[in-house]
Amino acid sequence: MRVLSKVLCCQETKAFIGRGALEKAAEEIPEKAKILLVRQDVLEPSPILKVFRNIVDEVVLKGGEEAKDIEVVLKIVERMHEAGIQRSDYVVAFGGGTLTDVTGFAASIYLRGVNFVAIPTTLLGMVDAAVGGKNAVNFKNVKNVLGTFYQPRIIVADTRFLDTLPQQEYVNGLAEVIKYGLALDKELYEFLRGNSEKILSRDEEALERVVERSIADKLFVVEQDVFDVKGIRIVLNFGHTVGHLIESLSGFSISHGKAVAVGMAYESLVSALMGLSSYDVHREIVEMLKMYGLPASLRDLGIELPRDPSTLKSVVARDKKAGWRGLTIPIVTEVGRWRSVTVDVDSYVEALVKCFG
Ligand SMILES: NC(=O)c1ccc[n+]([C@@H]2O[C@H](COP(=O)([O-])OP(=O)(O)OC[C@H]3O[C@@H](n4cnc5c(N)ncnc54)[C@H](O)[C@@H]3O)[C@@H](O)[C@H]2O)c1
Repeated sequence: MRVLSKVLCCQETKAFIGRGALEKAAEEIPEKAKILLVRQDVLEPSPILKVFRNIVDEVVLKGGEEAKDIEVVLKIVERMHEAGIQRSDYVVAFGGGTLTDVTGFAASIYLRGVNFVAIPTTLLGMVDAAVGGKNAVNFKNVKNVLGTFYQPRIIVADTRFLDTLPQQEYVNGLAEVIKYGLALDKELYEFLRGNSEKILSRDEEALERVVERSIADKLFVVEQDVFDVKGIRIVLNFGHTVGHLIESLSGFSISHGKAVAVGMAYESLVSALMGLSSYDVHREIVEMLKMYGLPASLRDLGIELPRDPSTLKSVVARDKKAGWRGLTIPIVTEVGRWRSVTVDVDSYVEALVKCFG
């Protein structure tokens, strides 16, 4: 079991990682504090009920993007209100990335912020969604367009909860781990390259190392740019411009992890086509995705998307990295290194159309 701690903005966030993390983390919560639990319908809640004695109410949510709706946020808020939750009380989210996103949003707006504990139960949630304080829901078929920045007090990445996670969901989470390795962390990347069998079979030691390293990488970036205004946090968005486009245009039928995997492959190809990075980086990325059974193209996903520039442009122009200056994108220049570049949206879309073939 490992513990990481960072002061983000003005408050400490602690991440407890590995088997037994739940029990250790629960010690941080004052006995008298009330807890509202938001949990995933498919998960057995007994480990949570055992360690948190003062749960006053619970909301049960389905997984998937449908839960990322403002109505769901309001439902959680209503239950906080009915339960008389105060700022010194806690909201605990136990579930996948969609559930921690929506619950974090509700915790951030009720009373202008009540204590939030994230207990992610998917790999993607552990290494990414529950870390860094971005909470959001989708709106009018646009991804994450309503949201807040609000840091969890505690993140519990207890790997025991992955025991029931289907392999495909597990692999989806590895897309974000690969992202950290590619853009930020050569050592993690080498570990991924040399240990795919262990990682895919969820060897406990390898898994804990991968989760810890990913959380540490993300916290390192977030610490430097908590509110995503300095152009540093943008690196965490590598693969996400095209990833979000795939999610939106497929009506969210493609999982976030798979969309980001294909997004990394296409974004690296777009930057090679635009002369901003070498084709070697693209080849490297595709090889790594294949090693972990992740898709690297629309063909791998088995879907067709609109290819006309005007449709693609209308989606890319809504990307949060787009503005009147153009589209600012993170570019992986070599494994573990990146830089950001602002490009013209039309040129970007033109290159993307070529990638789609
Ligand atoms: N806030 C952020 O910074 C951030 C970062 C990355 C991703 N995200 C968001 O995270 C979401 C994706 O998260 P996700 O991949 O965890 O999807 P998800 O929350 O939909 O979970 C995937 C599926 O796994 C099920 N599940 C969850 N835990 C399980 C377990 N332990 N055993 C069995 N089944 C389980 C869920 O019911 C669901 O069907 C996206 O909406 C994405 O935008 C947010």
